[in-house]
Amino acid sequence: MTQPWPGNVVEIDGVPHILPHNDKPNPPGITAFLRYPEFQRSLVRAIAARSAPDFRLLVAPGSIGCEALTLAILAKEAGLFDGGRSLVIDTLDLSARFTALARQNLYPESAIRHLPPAMKAHFNACAQSSGALVSAADTVHGCVNILPRGSLLDFQPAEAYDAVLCVNLLQYAGEFRPAFLDKLASLSRGMICVNRIDQAFGAANNPFHDAGFRPVGLPGNREPSPAPRKPAENWNCISVFAR
Ligand SMILES: C[S@@+](CC[C@H](N)C(=O)[O-])C[C@H]1O[C@@H](n2cnc3c(N)ncnc32)[C@H](O)[C@@H]1O
Repeated sequence: MTQPWPGNVVEIDGVPHILPHNDKPNPPGITAFLRYPEFQRSLVRAIAARSAPDFRLLVAPGSIGCEALTLAILAKEAGLFDGGRSLVIDTLDLSARFTALARQNLYPESAIRHLPPAMKAHFNACAQSSGALVSAADTVHGCVNILPRGSLLDFQPAEAYDAVLCVNLLQYAGEFRPAFLDKLASLSRGMICVNRIDQAFGAANNPFHDAGFRPVGLPGNREPSPAPRKPAENWNCISVFAR
């Protein structure tokens, strides 16, 4: 690879976030590895605690793959691909460019500097790159199904998911927000996880109530406060709803 990696890394609250370049400015593909540590670790613990051996997880939107890879690494460490267990991790994004970058599996090394050593060990330095780039090991990249680019609104999988993660999309959805909410409810037979960034989400106002979901707590997950003084206070919290 001779071209520089097509994006920047910026630090937000001590976490390096990747801003991949896109043809369209909105919605942005900003993403990060281990972006929501409490939630991502508590979700993997919840999957591990289930007696059923099979679990289907959808990460949509997935941007350039960091969120799905984070979960694959945590799941790998928790043994969720071993011992007769089956964990399916599908990821979907609207952007052809971001989907191609997820498939390419190259990331700026600075984007993983905050990871604990055990997680960093799942990445390899990429010798052929023109900058400092890393790739996730095949043992974890191969655990993520990067679906052909497409809109979540049009997505019609053959089978529903046990958990659907839709993080950092709804705030850009505008008039399509109700359609996204309906879609998420139809895709999930278990959990729906969305980040609360305004008063629209959270236990006090369940957007999935009519579809039969209730707010649930995951041990270890930082729940949104019921009455945030500023929406930004809940930016880093994930609300979980379940049937
Ligand atoms: C801010 S990123 C979020 C990535 C990741 N979930 C995270 O929080 O790190 C938003 C993504 O939504 C994608 N997107 C926008 N509309 C979409 C749609 N209708 N279906 C699927 N993805 C969409 C964009 O391409 C972009 O990659």
